[in-house]
Amino acid sequence: MSPVIAPTISAHGAAMPAVGYGTMLFPEPERAVGLVQHALACGYRHIDTARKYGSEQWVGEGIRASGLPRTDLWVTTKVTEENAKADDFARSVETSLETLGLDYVDLLLIHWPQPRVPLEETLGALARAKRDGLARNIGVSNFTIALLDEAVAKCPEPLFTNQIEYHAYLRQDRLIAACRKHGLLVTCYAPLARTAVMKDPVVKAIAAAHSKTPAQIALRWLVQQPDVGIVPRALEFAEIEENIELFDFVLTTQEMDAIGALRDNNLRVVSPEVRRPDWDEG
Ligand SMILES: NC(=O)c1ccc[n+]([C@@H]2O[C@H](COP(=O)([O-])OP(=O)(O)OC[C@H]3O[C@@H](n4cnc5c(N)ncnc54)[C@H](OP(=O)(O)O)[C@@H]3O)[C@@H](O)[C@H]2O)c1
Repeated sequence: MSPVIAPTISAHGAAMPAVGYGTMLFPEPERAVGLVQHALACGYRHIDTARKYGSEQWVGEGIRASGLPRTDLWVTTKVTEENAKADDFARSVETSLETLGLDYVDLLLIHWPQPRVPLEETLGALARAKRDGLARNIGVSNFTIALLDEAVAKCPEPLFTNQIEYHAYLRQDRLIAACRKHGLLVTCYAPLARTAVMKDPVVKAIAAAHSKTPAQIALRWLVQQPDVGIVPRALEFAEIEENIELFDFVLTTQEMDAIGALRDNNLRVVSPEVRRPDWDEG
């Protein structure tokens, strides 16, 4: 297995590997560390974690076990909406770094909007983490167009990305246009719609034509779009490898359009009632 190093996508002078390894709903520690190590051995240089996932410790251990220099890696973590107040936010960042065993993260995100805390307060704490050197870049996740407009206007430091659900079964054109207008990258979570898109006959037929798997077609469709990155999760070694082997083929314009047409399925796989904002349509 020769490692596949994904290309980077850039905003505000920083370059993030376009493919990250997602670590939500991770298994027991012994297996988790091995999975992170395997992802790094396959060439992943970007790991996506969050305080809420409980995977930060295994991510840190996997990184140390890999022997890779810290400067070769991009680590993202997130602060939950329960910690949106400035003091709680700062404590959460400190705990994340301690748990990861790192001095800084490459990207720190507000995980979900919190309507009960003024956005200025959370953004101030986010910007402070950057100014204190605890995060190289900062951004948001699950922000709608209205929230993004407000965040960009109020954040004292530039925002790097909005991490959102985006895949071949969900139309996000307006939100993506808003990210681009503000100079933010789009990071796609649940890029396989938790396997739903892999079962689609159109995706399967294109996969057969390229001698690739349906997962690779669904992921390639995303990373072939400008300024779009992905953070798929996989718990099988073969799938981890597959999900980064996306750069030795190109989808034609017709194939891109055929997969794009599937977005009318309008499937949103992550929408927790307790924290979802008023999602934008299309
Ligand atoms: N910001 C947020 O609010 C937010 C929300 C959700 C997720 N995320 C991030 O996004 C990451 C990915 O999202 P997700 O895990 O919800 O969904 P996903 O990546 O769309 O789908 C994961 C599912 O697809 C399967 N899979 C992955 N690669 C495969 C392959 N090549 N062939 C066959 N099956 C494959 C996985 O199997 P296994 O059972 O083997 O893993 C798992 O069941 C998370 O880990 C997390 O880092 C962020």
